[in-house]
Amino acid sequence: RSLLILNGPNLNLLGTRQPEVYGSTTLKDIENLCVAKASALGVTLHFEQSNHEGKLIDAIHAAQGKHNGIILNAGAYTHTSVALMDAIASVALPVVELHLSNIHARETFRHKSYIGRVAVGQICGFGAAGYPLAMDALLSHIGDIND
Ligand code: DQA
Repeated sequence: RSLLILNGPNLNLLGTRQPEVYGSTTLKDIENLCVAKASALGVTLHFEQSNHEGKLIDAIHAAQGKHNGIILNAGAYTHTSVALMDAIASVALPVVELHLSNIHARETFRHKSYIGRVAVGQICGFGAAGYPLAMDALLSHIGDIND
């Protein structure tokens, strides 16, 4: 089994970006956390990050046939991108929506998620720990966590 962990705009700056909101964990730290869990679960992970909406869409298209599901932190595109929502709806892959912060406890413009309409579910508010939680959630949805 193979999962794509896809991170959107500004998440390359994790660690130094608004640490009071997003913590001091870097994206590399998060990858290491996920890789450690993946070897315990016997799944393969692939990581991508882009600041560009179209590249995120391309990554979602390319995941079809290559991965079994996607963990997506779309950053601010979560709240704006009908195109990303349509991309997810256009591939037959389960997506778990992920946010480090609790978007529902923040500004009103962050409460709306286009990704939520097409995701299996959403994990938010648990910081970096949300990524391994999302792996569990996605694998149990796929239904072969023990395979
Ligand atoms: C975020 C929340 C978004 O509102 C914000 O634009 C981000 C990060 C999160 O992980 O908490 O870039 O997706």
